Amino acid sequence: MTPSNTEAGQRYRSADHSDQSIQASASALVIGGTGTTGSRVVAQLRAEGAAYRLATRSPSADDSAHVAFDWFAPETHLPALAGVDRVYLIAPVGVANPIPVLEPFLHAAREAGVRRVVLLSSSAVTEDTPVLGQAHRLVRELLPEWAILRPSWFMQNFIDAGHPIAEGLRTRGEIVTAAGTGRVPFVDAADIAAVAVRSLLDVDPPNVERVITGPEALSYDQAVAIIAEVTGRPVAHRSVEDDAFVAHLVANGIPAEFAAVLGRLDQGIRQGSEDRTTSVVVEVTGRQPGSFREFVTANRAAFPG
Ligand SMILES: NC(=O)c1ccc[n+]([C@@H]2O[C@H](COP(=O)([O-])OP(=O)(O)OC[C@H]3O[C@@H](n4cnc5c(N)ncnc54)[C@H](OP(=O)(O)O)[C@@H]3O)[C@@H](O)[C@H]2O)c1
Repeated sequence: MTPSNTEAGQRYRSADHSDQSIQASASALVIGGTGTTGSRVVAQLRAEGAAYRLATRSPSADDSAHVAFDWFAPETHLPALAGVDRVYLIAPVGVANPIPVLEPFLHAAREAGVRRVVLLSSSAVTEDTPVLGQAHRLVRELLPEWAILRPSWFMQNFIDAGHPIAEGLRTRGEIVTAAGTGRVPFVDAADIAAVAVRSLLDVDPPNVERVITGPEALSYDQAVAIIAEVTGRPVAHRSVEDDAFVAHLVANGIPAEFAAVLGRLDQGIRQGSEDRTTSVVVEVTGRQPGSFREFVTANRAAFPG
């Protein structure tokens, strides 16, 4: 089933398929297509001339490729999947256990003709991780073609409205973590999207996990020093005890269960779990990932001061 021969296909963006690496019949559904990574996946699919549809809870009346999809409204799933053969999948965000909604969705997608799922996961999650690791296993076992994307921490955390790091910078000129001097290979969401688009469109199914990092691992102290240098505004990093960090997140509106997860992640950073880089971006896309300094410079206006 291709976009051009179904009624649902009328709502796809057209594809010119000029790039021979793109399967001629490819038609991608981008779940979370207005989010940090999804919006960039959509932009890059559009730039490649690939057929796509994006799905969120609030479809836009101005964009016929933007359809309704709510993880917690199963009646929205099959209409969003009509005519689709591959999916960029962001599981429900901030939900401790997404498996009860993810598993039936993956079965339905397979039944509906989806062959490939590209799952956005995290560098901190492996197949052995309780609960979330099961999402990796389900995608690997249920789909003939798949990729598990495991990005490290997004550079966009420093500027995206509502993220505790961006809000700390904006309101107090300070980042609070429990990460100590642990280092993180912050990665630009544009580079994650570039890997996602290749994982969606390349003829050969990836069928691999891809740990996606920026070019260098930085401590939060090093990150704020770069921000201060580029913006000319002094900013600080304050590392606190684990309990104090979780309390700080809860005080800033993060649900307690999710705050505890984020606390454990910072503990891992402090202990060195994220202190590494990979060559995935250059291997998959052919170009080097952007550095944190380049990101801050390019997004100077999004930083306070
Ligand atoms: N931030 C990091 O450093 C980092 C690092 C590694 C991995 N990750 C992973 O990245 C994922 C988040 O990806 P992202 O940052 O690209 O997303 P995001 O910016 O948080 O956007 C979420 C998207 O999902 C949609 N959405 C929210 N609730 C929905 C629901 N119930 N049903 C359907 N759609 C819904 C939103 O649109 P509507 O609200 O309009 O529906 C939006 O398009 C998480 O799984 C996180 O674990 C993050």
